Amino acid sequence: MLQPLSRWFRRSGTDSAGAETIDRASLPRHIAIIMDGNGRWANRRGLPRVAGHRAGMTQVREVIRACDELGIRYLTLYAFSTENWKRPRPEVEYLMRLPEEFFRTEIDELVARRVQVRFIGDVDRLPDHTRRVVDETLRRTAGGDGMVVCFALNYGGRADILEAVRGLMREAAEGRLSPDAVTEAVFDGYLSTAGIPDPDLVIRTSGERRLSNFLLWQSAYAELWFTDVLWPDFGREGLLEALRDYQRRQRRFGGLK
Ligand code: FPP
Repeated sequence: MLQPLSRWFRRSGTDSAGAETIDRASLPRHIAIIMDGNGRWANRRGLPRVAGHRAGMTQVREVIRACDELGIRYLTLYAFSTENWKRPRPEVEYLMRLPEEFFRTEIDELVARRVQVRFIGDVDRLPDHTRRVVDETLRRTAGGDGMVVCFALNYGGRADILEAVRGLMREAAEGRLSPDAVTEAVFDGYLSTAGIPDPDLVIRTSGERRLSNFLLWQSAYAELWFTDVLWPDFGREGLLEALRDYQRRQRRFGGLK
C-alpha cells in the first residue's frame, strides 16, 4: 500500500532527482518546523485567513509523508502557540477544529505508516472537542514503532521550561532530588519532549527569522533554516531544499572542526 520514496516523488510529479541528492546517511534525526505564513498566503489570493490554515493543513500531510519516506525519525510541528489565543475568536475556533479534521482524514494512513503521534503543550486547556481528538489520536497511534510526529498545540517554550522547573522543585521539596543531581539530562526528562532527541534542524517558513517561543531549551544546537516560502507552498520541495542546505553545514556543537 505504501509507495517507496522514488515512486512517491515520481507519482507526485515533483523532482525525483531531488530526493536522490539527499544523503540518507546524514539526515537530521529530528526536524522541527514553525509553519508560518498561512494568513499571508490567503490574503494574496483574496481569501479569508482560515483558507490559508486549511491549505497549511494539507501541507502537514505532505511533509509527514515525505519525512517518513526519507527516513526522518522525529518531526515536530508548531501548530498553535500559547500566544495564538490572542487572535480573533473565529480564527482561534477554526484552528481548534483543524486537528479534528486532520486526524479524521489522516489517522488510518498514520497508523498504516506506524507513526506514533505525540502532543506537546498544555492540551488540558484546549476545548473539549479538540482534547477528545488528541486523546483518540494518542490511543490509536500509541503502538506505532515508526516515525514520531509531535504536534505542538498550545505550546510555549518558556512554559515548557517553567513546568519542568516546577516538576524538579516538587521532587526536591519531597526530598527525592538534590540540586547537584540536576544535570542537563535530568532536566530534559522533565520537559514535554522527554524521550525525544533535540531537534537537529529547525525550519521556519514565510521570511520571519525568530524562534517565537518554540523549543527554546531543545534548540540550543539546532541548525536554523529560514525560507521566504509561505507554509502552504512549502511541501516536499521546500523540505528537500532545507535538507540539502543542512547537509552542507558542519556541525561543531561548540568544538573545533
Ligand atoms: C502561522 O501562520 C500558522 C498558524 C498559527 C497555524 C498553523 C497551523 C497549521 C499549518 C495547520 C495545523 C494542522 C493541524 C493538523 C493541527 P499565520 O497565520 O501567522 O500566517 P501570517 O503570519 O501570514 O499571518
